[in-house]
Amino acid sequence: MTPTMRRGLVAAGVLAFAAVAAGVGIGHALWAEPDYYAPTDAADLPAGGDNDLIRLGWGIITDTARHIGKDAEDPALRYAGNDLACANCHLDAGLKPFAAPFVSTATSYPMMVDDRVLTLTERINGCMTRSMNGRPLPEDGREMAAMLAYMRYVGRDAPEGVRVAGMGLKPLSPAAEPPNAGRGEAVYAADCARCHGAAGEGNRKAPPGIGWAIPPLWGDSAFNDSAGMAHIETAAAFVRANMPRGVSSEAPMLSEQEAWDVAAFVTAKPRPKGPPRDARD
Ligand code: HEC
Ligand code: HEC
Repeated sequence: MTPTMRRGLVAAGVLAFAAVAAGVGIGHALWAEPDYYAPTDAADLPAGGDNDLIRLGWGIITDTARHIGKDAEDPALRYAGNDLACANCHLDAGLKPFAAPFVSTATSYPMMVDDRVLTLTERINGCMTRSMNGRPLPEDGREMAAMLAYMRYVGRDAPEGVRVAGMGLKPLSPAAEPPNAGRGEAVYAADCARCHGAAGEGNRKAPPGIGWAIPPLWGDSAFNDSAGMAHIETAAAFVRANMPRGVSSEAPMLSEQEAWDVAAFVTAKPRPKGPPRDARD
């Protein structure tokens, strides 16, 4: 993504945010924005029509390993190279603000990135080859169609071509002190290891579950070194607003410096080698 584009998106987010603040300040009666992040009934939609595809999309995003993971039930569908779930990063199935949510996704793709059109299927396959350390899904396959249907469904009230507040990650201020992996190791031991494990190994779901109760952060089963999360800026922004699991961008637990430091520690750890990154995200 070009700096110009990023600035454009950030500006749109800031505007939407200012609008929310103004609306609240003047009184709810004046202007009520829909709650784009409200929980959905995607899992329980009645059978028929588009609903089956939306429900399948929800299933793939939340229980990715079972459908398309490296241990998926159907060997022909083992596209991912790990057992992560999309929702391990796109928290609450893409409905948590500042955890790379999906509410404005369908309405803001295709997107111009570096003078070229990036389609939503290409963006999803970016996460397939990097975060999921795997192969691209066929663009015309049922799994891709299902994820697109789900993203359209959770974005059905979102305005066309606008990134609503809370999209993406909440960027941190530049670190006051240069990020330090040594200090980050202490943050990790105090605030992360009890869930993610002392060696970042995570914790598998009990069978018959497939995938992770707590996802790994490094090692062979983690996202690869081309993934967004392998970059310190991305990891620090994600962690500050979302970790330990349960915090939010309004009520973070770590200081910004602690987030930078623990991100320095985690991103320096070994992980699978990814494809070369193109400059598109
Ligand atoms: C209370 C348990 C808990 C703690 C403590 C915790 N996490 Fe997590 N973390 C999770 C869970 C669960 C997920 C997956 C969320 C989901 O699937 O809903 C996750 C996801 C993540 C992810 C994205 C998925 C992945 O595999 O990379 C990162 C990065 C992460 N955590 C980093 C951290 C860091 C750094 C800390 C310490 C500051 C931390 N977490 C503390 C439970 C925890
Ligand atoms: C290890 C973490 C991780 C996993 C797992 C992951 N992603 Fe992502 N994804 C990201 C990050 C980080 C971004 C970029 C967020 C940003 O900077 O705006 C992103 C961006 C996206 C976007 C662009 C959204 C938008 O509107 O900007 C889509 C679509 C997407 N991912 C789909 C998926 C799908 C589908 C899966 C599962 C097959 C998946 N991702 C798995 C981390 C992950």
